[in-house]
Amino acid sequence: MEKKIYRIAVIPGDGIGIEVVNEGIRVLEHLAKQSEEKFAFEYDYFPWGCEYYLKYGKMMDEDGVEKLKDYDAIYFGAVGYPGVPDHISLWGLRIAICQGLDQWANIRPVEFLPGVPKRLNHPDIDSLNWVLIRENSEGEYSGIGGRNFSSRGDGKEVAVQSSLFTEHGCERIIRYAFDMARTRKRKKVTSVTKSNAQQYGMVLWDEVFDRVSKEYPDVETDQWLVDAMAAQFVLHPEELEVVVASNLFADILSDLGSALSGSLGIAASANINPEGHTPSMFESVHGSAPDIAGKGIANPIGTIGSAALMLEHFGLKDEAKQVNDAIKETTNQGILTRDIGGTADTKDITNAIINSLSSVYNKA
Ligand code: NAI
Ligand code: MG
Repeated sequence: MEKKIYRIAVIPGDGIGIEVVNEGIRVLEHLAKQSEEKFAFEYDYFPWGCEYYLKYGKMMDEDGVEKLKDYDAIYFGAVGYPGVPDHISLWGLRIAICQGLDQWANIRPVEFLPGVPKRLNHPDIDSLNWVLIRENSEGEYSGIGGRNFSSRGDGKEVAVQSSLFTEHGCERIIRYAFDMARTRKRKKVTSVTKSNAQQYGMVLWDEVFDRVSKEYPDVETDQWLVDAMAAQFVLHPEELEVVVASNLFADILSDLGSALSGSLGIAASANINPEGHTPSMFESVHGSAPDIAGKGIANPIGTIGSAALMLEHFGLKDEAKQVNDAIKETTNQGILTRDIGGTADTKDITNAIINSLSSVYNKA
């Protein structure tokens, strides 16, 4: 059989992004070696991020999005660092890539790993898991608006920030959520909006949700306002299976979900272009965490879990499962970073995951 080569664009970015991406690559390399010539990964590194901005006045090359189109996937750390305003760094890199490559579905699973101290008091916590589907191309992150009237003097400036909801954008993400629900144990989609207050865009979302849901009579549905959904995450998470929400709301809810499951450091995510026209991008949910950057203590699980999502995307389903199992075995053994109550360093976690992968392989 011919060896399959996957070409990956690696963008470590800033802060702990650089540290945790390294760990993910170690895991990928280990798997490639174990595969006995079945597959391999080739990496091209892109030095884009805040340091790049301070040197060249831009977060990435002008033709950066074009360059990325050549790859099978993008593996991303995190972006943002003191010294560069966050809106410049996020828009100049992460959002530029997600929107430029039309990665319109952002998948963010919420998992409760064994051995991680529980933040949530729930009788069935070990069996809880749900997935957030974040609309990743429009909504509150459309970048429509502007600032004006600073010439009128202090205190007189005006800022307008508009959300954009298109029927096409709502429909494709809602359909994606229903299709995903059909692959899960409980076939249920919960839609989250704030259409009592956001009477145009989010009412359109609700209408599209009602229309699309009729094509999926086998899938249970539920609709919530986002404030109540924040409470539902804590009070009745057993009701959650596939949760679909706008760009901003799902961003906020995913930090809540990862905090409930232990830490921002353990949540994985995939920015998918479901049509496969452009490469998808895999990154943890967390940011660059400047407060712990450079200390070697960041939790790499979110980024390693994102590599597992990338393997799944490549069709390497067994390997993806092996990585997820190895993560669980590691946390179950009490090998934990500080954010989840342990004393292990970043590299200790990866070493334990790789050890566990080796033993799976030897058993096979
Ligand atoms: P953050 O996610 O970087 O950090 C929030 C808190 O969680 C910090 O106390 C941090 O130490 C902790 N934390 C995050 N990841 C961790 C890990 N892997 N292990 C252990 N602890 C972890 O969010 P924050 O502080 O709001 O933003 C920092 C920078 O990151 C900003 O410049 C922001 O714009 C950027 N950002 C970038 C994102 C991306 O690239 N996708 C996403 C979110 C924020
Ligand atoms: Mg976020």
